[in-house]
Amino acid sequence: MIREALDALKKGEMVLLYDFDNRERETDLTMRSDRITHRDICRMRHDAGGLICTAIPFASAKKLGLPFARDVLRNCAMVEQLGDIPYDPSNNSSFSLWVNHRNTFTGITDKDRSLTVNALSKVVQNTLDGEPVVFKDQFRTPGHMPVLIAAEKLLDQRHGQTELSVAMAEMAGINPTISICEMLDDESGLALSKEEAIKYAKKHGLVFVEGSEVLEEWDNRQT
Ligand code: 5RP
Ligand code: CA
Ligand code: ZN
Repeated sequence: MIREALDALKKGEMVLLYDFDNRERETDLTMRSDRITHRDICRMRHDAGGLICTAIPFASAKKLGLPFARDVLRNCAMVEQLGDIPYDPSNNSSFSLWVNHRNTFTGITDKDRSLTVNALSKVVQNTLDGEPVVFKDQFRTPGHMPVLIAAEKLLDQRHGQTELSVAMAEMAGINPTISICEMLDDESGLALSKEEAIKYAKKHGLVFVEGSEVLEEWDNRQT
């Protein structure tokens, strides 16, 4: 399914991205941020229900001056222990800052969040094109869109949906700013099972792809 997934991502469709049986065992609704509309944000919060975040590449974050939250919080006296993530062997969270575009009002509405992620994709594109961009001129923090920073070596370093989604964007040749949201189960109070996620994909004509397939494509890619 990886070819179909890259194609769908490229076309601006949502893709269901499951990580691994030995990791979170979660499926994220995944979509390129430069194509997201307020209706897509609505679908993510309604049909997925997890945290809507936007993943960006490490190099872009560096150019924009965006830190990992873990590095900022390390200097905070209230935080006694960082890391301790039960499912990720790197023990490193990909969270950066929570941001809102300065043209938003509260930042949480579907229109505000789509505006913020669309703008994030533009500043990431600026960094890729070598154009100067002053992040704080356009965004304020704290805000309502968590930015996730992918590990520098992507899937050679970490296997989260952060890296899986940015790696898929790179392989699809599109802007590597990707919004993701975990699919949760209203009945059990847990993550939506893989089986239920596959059913949702079938029902809605969307592609379901697993991290193992992304990883295989990544390892076999021609660079
Ligand atoms: C943010 C998260 C999600 O699990 C998201 O998929 C990104 O995290 P990771 O890269 O660790 O999978 O925690 O809601
Ligand atoms: Ca995840
Ligand atoms: Zn999660």
